[in-house]
Amino acid sequence: DPVVRVALLGCGTVGSQVIRLLREHGDDWAARSGARLDLVGVAVRDTSVPRDPWVPPELLTTDASALIDRADIVVELIGGIEPARGLVLQALRGGRTVVTGNKALLAAHGPELHAAVEAGDADLYYEAAVAGAIPVVYGLRESLAGDNIVTVAGIVNGTTNYILDEMATRGLSFEQALQQAQALGYAEADPTADVDGHDAAAKAAILASLAFHTRVSVDDVPVAGIRGISAEEVSAAAGAGQVVKLLAVARRTTGGVSVRVHPALLPDTHPLAAVRGAFNAVVVEAESAGRLMFYGQGAGGTPTASAVLSDVVAAAGHAIRGGHAPRESAYTQLPLLGPEET
Ligand code: HSE
Repeated sequence: DPVVRVALLGCGTVGSQVIRLLREHGDDWAARSGARLDLVGVAVRDTSVPRDPWVPPELLTTDASALIDRADIVVELIGGIEPARGLVLQALRGGRTVVTGNKALLAAHGPELHAAVEAGDADLYYEAAVAGAIPVVYGLRESLAGDNIVTVAGIVNGTTNYILDEMATRGLSFEQALQQAQALGYAEADPTADVDGHDAAAKAAILASLAFHTRVSVDDVPVAGIRGISAEEVSAAAGAGQVVKLLAVARRTTGGVSVRVHPALLPDTHPLAAVRGAFNAVVVEAESAGRLMFYGQGAGGTPTASAVLSDVVAAAGHAIRGGHAPRESAYTQLPLLGPEET
């Protein structure tokens, strides 16, 4: 079989599961993609940190830039802006395929990344950046490419949904529930990004850009998180047949696009009220398709690794047989509407 060389940047909750799954199932995917996936290295900040037992110590390196030059596919799971941004740009400009789960980077530097894709005649895949295992990026980018999307709305942060759910059903305090979400590997390295809604805002910006073929930056998204919500408020809502959910909402109107993130009270008969724990759900309304709902595990190492690996398998297939991921260079900058205008 032809060999496709894969470099992994970052070995945290998701990266470690990517390595485990590659080792356990690499042969199945070789059969599917027609290429043997060869993990050529894992770039980390500190090689002396203890790792999961399946992480091969001989693959660890602190020189991410040199590792990129030895790879066909670069999987970026470092998160945050730098050094991830510089490394992803290096890979793309060098014509390498990048698979990333980095929502913060995509939502802050989307135009720069898409320009680097063009410059390098490269490919960029990012299923893992939004809603973990749920194939919503593929859904918007490919399955619904022949429709006009009007609304994308839903629960796109697993940590806050888990916290609100634990407060409502088990009476945990906000702090206790957050600690559990961290222990289960749902929260960001800095959980304020989850709690204050910035992680959801990044995902909302990515989804709105894709859905409406425009550019929305995370800075364009008004955001309110769940920090101020008390256990009393959550249980009072439950007593009144309601649930508190952190929603991300993106709408296309004749005047432009509005995107925001805010907590909302939903009646417990609402489809999004049934989304429990760290699950996510995204409701899409399209002109011809009507209403679609994407639902599944939105956070956690193994579900998110599934999204990363589906991108890697797709990319390996393209590396062998030719073809590209969809390009996002064609877009129209739509006016961004404030809350009062919609
Ligand atoms: N911290 C994120 C969440 C991880 O809780 O949804 C998945 O992007």
